[in-house]
Amino acid sequence: MNISLRPGKPEDAAICGAICYEAFSTISDQHNFPHDFPHPEAAIGLLTELLAREDVYSVVAEVDGRVAGSNFLWENAVIAGVGPITIDPKLQNVAVGRKLMESVLQRAQDRAFVGVRLVQAAYHNRSLSLYTKLGFDTREPLSTIQGSPIGVSVPSHEVRLATEADLAGCNKLCLKVHGHERGQELADAIKQGTASVVEHDGRITGYATLIGFFGHAVCESNEDLKALIGAAKEFPGPGFLLPTRNSELLRWCLAQGLRVVQPMTLMSTGLYNEPAGVFLPSVVF
Ligand SMILES: CC(C)(COP(=O)(O)OP(=O)(O)OC[C@H]1O[C@@H](n2cnc3c(N)ncnc32)[C@H](O)[C@@H]1OP(=O)(O)O)[C@@H](O)C(=O)NCCC(=O)NCCS
Repeated sequence: MNISLRPGKPEDAAICGAICYEAFSTISDQHNFPHDFPHPEAAIGLLTELLAREDVYSVVAEVDGRVAGSNFLWENAVIAGVGPITIDPKLQNVAVGRKLMESVLQRAQDRAFVGVRLVQAAYHNRSLSLYTKLGFDTREPLSTIQGSPIGVSVPSHEVRLATEADLAGCNKLCLKVHGHERGQELADAIKQGTASVVEHDGRITGYATLIGFFGHAVCESNEDLKALIGAAKEFPGPGFLLPTRNSELLRWCLAQGLRVVQPMTLMSTGLYNEPAGVFLPSVVF
C-alpha cells in the first residue's frame, strides 16, 4: 500500500467532501449519534469553501493513486486550528490519518505557530488516541448544545450586531481572556453580519462571531454569554460548543430547553493559556 500526500486543489472538493460525509456519518452511526453533516452536499460545500481559502492550508492523501482523505490547517490566528480530518472508512486505521496529521503539524511548525488546537468527537477512541500520541493534550470537555432559539434577554446586558468600530475592544477582551487575539475571524464575521457584542456598564463585556459550530465567543462573565446565547436567532451547524465544566452556564442552557447533542473535547499542543474568563470555542478551536 503506497500512501502519498499532496496539496489540496479546488477540484478535490467533490471526492474529499464525499469522503468527509462518509467518514463522519459512519462513525456517528456506529455510536448512534446524529450526523455532523445532514447530507453529502453539506460536506462538499464546506470543503469547496476551505479549498478556496488562502488562510486555510489543505493536504490530500492518496492510497495507490486514489484519493483517501484530507486534512486542513486554519492559519487565520496566532494559534492554528486543525480539521476537518477525514479518511475513507475503507482505508482507516492504516496510518493515513497519522500522515495527514503529521503534515499539518509540520506546516504549523514551519510557519512558527505558537500553538495548534482542535476539537475532537469525545466518543471516538481512535482520534483521541491518535491526537494524544501526536502530542495533543486534553484541555476542556465540551458539550455540543442545540435547540430552538431562546429569545431571552439579560437585564442591563444589551446585545447588538458588531461593527468594525468594535474590533479593538473585542480583541482586547480576547487577549485578556485567552492571552491572544482572534481578530481576523472577528473581522470576517463582522463582514458576514454574524458577529454580535454585549455591552454592560457602558462597555463591551463580550462578543461572539456566531453562536454555532464554527463561531467562538469570549466574555467577562456568564451573564454576558447568556445574553449573547439568549439573543441568537439560531445555532448553525450541529450546535454551539459549551465548556462542560462551566456548570452554571450548562444548567442555564438546559433550563431554557436546550439539549446536549454530543460530547466533544478541546485539545491543544504548544501554547495554551487557561482562559481567564468565559468562552465558547469554535469547532476549529
Ligand atoms: C480519526 C481518523 C482521521 C484517523 O485516521 P486513521 O487513518 O483511521 O488513523 P491512523 O491509522 O493513522 O492512526 C490511528 C492510531 O490510533 C491508534 N488507535 C486506534 N484505535 C485505538 C484505541 N482504541 N486505543 C488506542 N489506540 C488506538 C492506532 O493504533 C494508530 O496509532 P499509530 O499511529 O501509533 O499506529 C479517521 O479514523 C477518520 O476519518 N474518522 C472519522 C472522522 C473523524 O472522526 N475525524 C476526526 C474528527 S475529530
